[in-house]
Amino acid sequence: MTTTERSTGLVDVRNGTASREIFVDDAIYRDEQEKVFSRSWLLVGHESQIPNPDDYYVSRMGEEQVILTRDKQGNIHVLLNTCTHRGMKLCRYDEGNTTLFTCPYHAWSFSTDGNLVSTPGELFGVPGYRARYHEALDKTKWGLVRVPRIVNYRGTIWGNWDPDAPDLEDYLGGMKMWLDFALDHRDGRDAGGVVLAGVQKWRVGCNWKFAPTNFIGDVAHVVSHRSVDMVNIGPSGAGRRDDKRDGASVFGWPDLGHGGTGWAGALEEDYTQPPSFGRFPEVAEYFESARAARRERLKGRFHFQGKGTIFPNMSFHEEQPRTIIVAHPNGPCETEFWRYYLVDEDAPDNVKDVLRRYFMSYSGPAGLTEQDDLENWSAATEASRGRVARDHPYNYQMGLGYSEPYEPVPGCVWARQLFSEQNQLIWLKRWSEFMQGRSWDQLMHRVETPGDVPFPMLEAEATSA
Ligand code: FES
Ligand code: FE
Repeated sequence: MTTTERSTGLVDVRNGTASREIFVDDAIYRDEQEKVFSRSWLLVGHESQIPNPDDYYVSRMGEEQVILTRDKQGNIHVLLNTCTHRGMKLCRYDEGNTTLFTCPYHAWSFSTDGNLVSTPGELFGVPGYRARYHEALDKTKWGLVRVPRIVNYRGTIWGNWDPDAPDLEDYLGGMKMWLDFALDHRDGRDAGGVVLAGVQKWRVGCNWKFAPTNFIGDVAHVVSHRSVDMVNIGPSGAGRRDDKRDGASVFGWPDLGHGGTGWAGALEEDYTQPPSFGRFPEVAEYFESARAARRERLKGRFHFQGKGTIFPNMSFHEEQPRTIIVAHPNGPCETEFWRYYLVDEDAPDNVKDVLRRYFMSYSGPAGLTEQDDLENWSAATEASRGRVARDHPYNYQMGLGYSEPYEPVPGCVWARQLFSEQNQLIWLKRWSEFMQGRSWDQLMHRVETPGDVPFPMLEAEATSA
């Protein structure tokens, strides 16, 4: 059986089920590295992490290790973090500033633009370039491998290994609007967000797909965060804002795999934000004034508010406080999570300090909320690995038939109720299409493909109440 055949039929969009194999199987995992991670746009980092010439930040794209750099001229590069001589991991630090990356193995050295260089005395560069290599080595051919497509989108740096991939903005489709609001609460003013106090990273024994399918629309899981409410460390104190907003909805892009939960367009007028950060008046005041200014700016304009996932593995919270979480795959049953925290660059220092401490107690490896989720995901992975367990699919049938096209945004579907699993299916449908190796024409232009399964919610007559 070919890998493409093997990838067909694992996701049944019409019935709302997905095989457990896609969460535990080693062959499917290896196939994903080529079919999904080598073709998708992946978040690499944020420009605020490399503000100066020769700054670097070590990141990942799927299993590949990459270095995000700013060269002496200020240009941004994403380079494969492996020496072209014999494969040594070139940069062993998480971030920093350097004029040269010198390989620990035999000392080949590369500038921050990725070129294999010459240095006086040949101590670095290519040691022994004259005496040992007899000047025959063509250094221009042995620079670091470059990610062929990179984009700086509102401060976030994205990379794609596929030179034929569509532009990031086309890839995002209508979700671009939502991402815009997540990345800059000032909506285009110069003072955009910056990454606050480093990136939190941790490894968990779960499949990477649990995270994006959680953040794209699994609102029902908030029941497992009850402990966070009881100890009163959430942004809205002892209450969960998730349960309290009228008019909340799930929104997804069936043909692009992105989606989120939140509020859109006119619904904003009906929506009153519950008080948040009551324990920290200075933060509450800052956010309230920022929200008021934003409401004023957006008057009469369409916008989204909430949290979501960009296919395949980048998720974000667009509300204050803003965070990004990336699920890096380490194997079928291990994931490395990286969480970035964004704050307005010109926020007062005391607000930044409270947020830094808040982020550590609420999310990240030490945060109670994250621990709830990670326990769910790792235990579900563990309990799905058995030979018998694998034969029983996961269920995604909640709310099927209760969504409709969302007219203000072409290509978007929505469910008026907050509790629906349509978005998880939207993500799984996209995953399935990538795993079948479809062309970009088929993926982006809705070319009818034999065997296509229409999205079930659009077929149903039921409408939400
Ligand atoms: Fe890097 Fe040899 S592996 S210099
Ligand atoms: Fe959660």
